[in-house]
Amino acid sequence: MADTTDTKSSNQMWGGRFASGPDAIMEEINASIGFDKKLFAQDIRGSIAHATMLAHQGIISAEDKDKIVHGLNTILSEIESGNFEFSRRLEDIHMNIEARLATLIGPAAGRLHTARSRNDQVALDFRLWVKEELEKTEKMLTGLIAAFLDRAEEHADSVMPGFTHLQTAQPVTFGHHCMAYVEMFGRDRSRVRHAIEHLDESPIGAAALAGTGYPIDRHMTAKALGFREPTRNSIDTVSDRDFAIEFLSIAAITGMHLSRLAEEIVIWSTPQFGFVRLSDAFSTGSSIMPQKKNPDAAELVRAKTGRINGSLVALLTIMKGLPLAYSKDMQEDKEQVFDAAESLELAIAAMTGMVRDMTVNTARMKAAAGSGFSTATDLADWLVREAGLPFRDAHHVTGRAVALAEGKGCDLAELPLADLQAIHASITDKVYDVLTVEASVASRKSFGGTAPSEVRRQIAFWRARN
Ligand code: ARG
Repeated sequence: MADTTDTKSSNQMWGGRFASGPDAIMEEINASIGFDKKLFAQDIRGSIAHATMLAHQGIISAEDKDKIVHGLNTILSEIESGNFEFSRRLEDIHMNIEARLATLIGPAAGRLHTARSRNDQVALDFRLWVKEELEKTEKMLTGLIAAFLDRAEEHADSVMPGFTHLQTAQPVTFGHHCMAYVEMFGRDRSRVRHAIEHLDESPIGAAALAGTGYPIDRHMTAKALGFREPTRNSIDTVSDRDFAIEFLSIAAITGMHLSRLAEEIVIWSTPQFGFVRLSDAFSTGSSIMPQKKNPDAAELVRAKTGRINGSLVALLTIMKGLPLAYSKDMQEDKEQVFDAAESLELAIAAMTGMVRDMTVNTARMKAAAGSGFSTATDLADWLVREAGLPFRDAHHVTGRAVALAEGKGCDLAELPLADLQAIHASITDKVYDVLTVEASVASRKSFGGTAPSEVRRQIAFWRARN
């Protein structure tokens, strides 16, 4: 992309009152074309809708409108095919396109900017971009949820240790664990849907900040651009970047969820845990240690969270001290959103691939599920249910049984009945039925619990929703 840096002449778009062009440093700090050229398609769509409305309202002639629309479509194909020369001297995408339009169609181009300003123009372009990105995110989250639903179905009966404090707590099923992520990404997706609803208002026509004296029809442009309605306050419209901040907060929360999953995959894929094996497609080797298979993709997903959080904090900080309405500070909004969007897309795609591809070692999970006295709560519950003990007493009795098993170096289920009866006389051999991990998970049928029957119920609920 060639850069025409002619610093001597003033800006052809707004340079009327300027005797000379900007200092080279001024030009460099002022220009956004390096990153906002990403908005070219939205800018052209917005301009076509605006020009069409201007003609419909009799503000410009139909001939001028036709020339403008034709010129804009030519520019669109020039940019799409890489045959467009972006100029830093023309600052941003809006003026690059308008200048090219003037070259292509002559004086009619000068009528396009009637009844609008770059302030409402950029608010429009960026909103359209963020809306499309949110729609893409929604689809990608649906794909990730679908991957988890498949794994949950496959492993509705596979027992694994459930953890609190990363210490063995109670047996759960791998299907249940997968469904925890379905809930998390399901919430993220509903946040995305809410954000789309919030931003679904068209900024164009707010003009610089005060609206315009031309008889424009903002409802018409809103409809043409696929928005529900126009924004209601022109000052707020050009001051507002909530839609970008909402996108970044959603990205940060989703990123945090992805990072927790990444951390679990890193832990699970260690030889010490051995719960999952990542496919070759989603791991790398070591250049020095031939035995290694590293979960690099998971680690990078974990790290992308840092970038996304950084973008959120950056934009909140950029916006927090700005008086109404537009200030040039707001130009710094785009890079944060573009970078976070790229990171988020990559992270969701990589995670979806990993979840679909990873091999689950159910034997390892089951062996681990039974260790660490994971069915101790089941023994306490049995004492409550079958022997009528208050739960606190049952907890104490069970604690003694755990201490005894620990001393003997065996599991609870391996303690002889005589030993258990010595701790509490009411214990019978029926107790062994609840001490296995399968019995433990099968018993937890409370709504949302880990029992395979319950997990299948939740899978069916999400399948109907997804
Ligand atoms: N490039 C600018 C931005 O991204 C466009 C709006 C410029 N408006 C202005 N009043 N200088 O924010």
